[in-house]
Formats: sequence, structure tokens, C-alpha cells
Amino acid sequence: MDRNSRIFVAGHRGLVGSAILRRLTEAGHTNLVIRDRSQLDLTDQAAVRAFFDREGIEHVILAAAKVGGILANDRFGGDFIRDNLLIQTNVIDAAWRGGVKKLLFLGSSCLYPKHAEQPIKEGALLSGPMEPSNKPYAVAKIAGITMCQAYRRQYGFNAICAMPSNLYGPGDHFDPETSHALPGMIRRFHDAKLAGAPTVTLWGTGTPRREFLYADDMADACLHLMDHYDSEEIINVGPGDDIAIADLAASIRDTVGYPGTLTHDLSKPDGHPRKLMDVSRLFATGWRPRVSLEEGLRRTYGWFLENAASAHPPASKQAAE
Ligand SMILES: NC(=O)c1ccc[n+]([C@@H]2O[C@H](COP(=O)([O-])OP(=O)(O)OC[C@H]3O[C@@H](n4cnc5c(N)ncnc54)[C@H](OP(=O)(O)O)[C@@H]3O)[C@@H](O)[C@H]2O)c1
Repeated sequence: MDRNSRIFVAGHRGLVGSAILRRLTEAGHTNLVIRDRSQLDLTDQAAVRAFFDREGIEHVILAAAKVGGILANDRFGGDFIRDNLLIQTNVIDAAWRGGVKKLLFLGSSCLYPKHAEQPIKEGALLSGPMEPSNKPYAVAKIAGITMCQAYRRQYGFNAICAMPSNLYGPGDHFDPETSHALPGMIRRFHDAKLAGAPTVTLWGTGTPRREFLYADDMADACLHLMDHYDSEEIINVGPGDDIAIADLAASIRDTVGYPGTLTHDLSKPDGHPRKLMDVSRLFATGWRPRVSLEEGLRRTYGWFLENAASAHPPASKQAAE
């Protein structure tokens, strides 16, 4: 992509899309195309086709999707499969029809089989039974990956697929009910601090290990892949290391400045002991993350205080005990 390339960032108001927009702007790109949902609903096939026919888009980064944590996936599975199938099918097909040169589609580490060998290599996709809790989301996303691969083979369309790890950063969703684990913890420690609650309770033992990549590093990796990766093989994008949930919680507690203690509710399940992707394929292309977890948490909490802290009622019962 050169500085004048006409690039459509789909989902530019989301966690990943907003970071991609920041990164492209920083890198001097001047011909960026963005549309919010009220201007272009990506589930509307006719509108998406007309958009690509009209706009002369050259590159697409598809960061629009219906995304959420375990609870949201469980409650709104119908929305997750419908919206994701519609968005990705409309955008990938219309982009190809509209003569787009290259498209980046985003999968997720949670598409891999529940018992995939650790660290998870790209070849593990579809090699075993999937995690049931996010099946509608995962099935839709795997269809998107397969569509990219099939369009490449049949039509020569240069569509690539990245598999991000857990992501966090400015622009994330902090609702304790529907958010991912890390922003949910930020919200809970923050609410507990305001409420003067003596302790915050974590589910399980805190020993499971998970990986987290800062959104701006993810954006940087997306640009790197647009410039340096052309293959039908999916490619993992992550930090390359992981952290125990209890250590993550302690880091968040320190970042938030919560003076209370952390306790564990051992009646709650732990989930998988470890979820870490093998990122050797990505690292072999020369890319490395730049933002440490401590720095990323500091920036994310700063953004939360300015933009999201007052967006929800304080100190729910679940947040502080
Ligand atoms: N967050 C993670 O931890 C994570 C991990 C792995 C992979 N990913 C992948 O990364 C991508 C981006 O995720 P994210 O975390 O940035 O999600 P996000 O913060 O929820 O942002 C999604 C964006 O998509 C837009 N969108 C949704 N439905 C739309 C529609 N019908 N028409 C137009 N725009 C629509 C949203 O617009 P509104 O602002 O109007 O809602 C929002 O801007 C997704 O493909 C996701 O699967 C994310």
C-alpha cells in the first residue's frame, strides 16, 4: 500500500479499526475511506455492492464484525452468526467484484479447536471439536476464512486472513456483562475502587494462562501483513507469550490503583489451563510487538477514564463484594 492507495477500513470505530486508522494516519496515508454503520450498514448487500462499485477502493482491512465475550456469545448467538456471515460475505464478494487489489480478513484465536496442542499452530484449524460457547461466531468466521481461500483459488483474489490473539486497548468495550475478560477486569477494579470495596473476586484459581496483544500492535501487524504477506495460509498474530490470569489481575489492580485485595472463587471453573498461539510464521516475516503489557494497560486505563468510566452504573454487585 503506498501513501495514496485508496484504503477502506471497515469498522473504523471499533477497537481494532480505530487503531488501524491511527496507524495508517501516522504512516502518512491520505486516501482513507471510512463509513460508520449509519452511512453504510455492511449487512446490506445492495448497499455494500453499490459502495464498492462507486468508490474505487484498492485495499480493504475488514475490522467490522459482531464481537463480544462469553456471555454475549451465549445470549446472542443468532446475532453473532447472522451479522458476521452477512458482513464478511458482502464485503469480500463486493470487494472482489469491485476490483479491490487486496483484502485482509480477521479471524481469531478462539476459532481453534478446544483441545488444540499448545502453542497453537495455524495448521490446527478445523483439526478437532470447537469450543461450544462461541460456536456461532466461530463457524461464521471460519466460513469467512474459507471464502477468502476459495476466492483466491477460483478468482485469483488476493485475500489474506490473520488470526489475532486476545486484544485490548483504547476503544474497547468495558461493560462487565458483555466485554472480554481484560476490559471487564479494568471495569471491576475501577468500580471496586470507587465503591471502597475491600476485595475483588476472580473466578477460578487464576492459574490459567492467556495471551494479550495491544490494539496498536495489532494494527501495526495488519499493515505489515498488507505489505509483506500474500498467501492463502492463515497467519497467527499475537505477542508470542502469555500471562497467568492472577498476574494479569494484579497488574490491572496496580494500574487502576485499587488498594483492596484479590480473592478467588474456587467454585467457578478455570477453563483451559493455557491458550497461546505459535507466532513463528509471523515473526519469520520480521514483525515484533512493541508495546509491553504494563504500558498497554496504562494507556488503556487512561482512555477508559476519559471515555468510558462514566458510561455504566458504578459498582455493580458483581464488581465489588
Ligand atoms: N477484540 C478482540 O479481542 C479480538 C480478538 C480476536 C479477533 N478479533 C477480530 O478483530 C475484528 C475487530 O474486532 P474489534 O474488537 O475491533 O470489534 P469492535 O470493537 O466491536 O468493533 C467492530 C466494529 O464493526 C462495526 N460493525 C459491526 N456491525 C456492523 C455493520 N452491520 N455495519 C457496519 N459496521 C459494523 C462496529 O460499528 P459500531 O461502532 O457502529 O458498532 C465497530 O466499529 C473482528 O473481526 C474480530 O473478530 C478481535
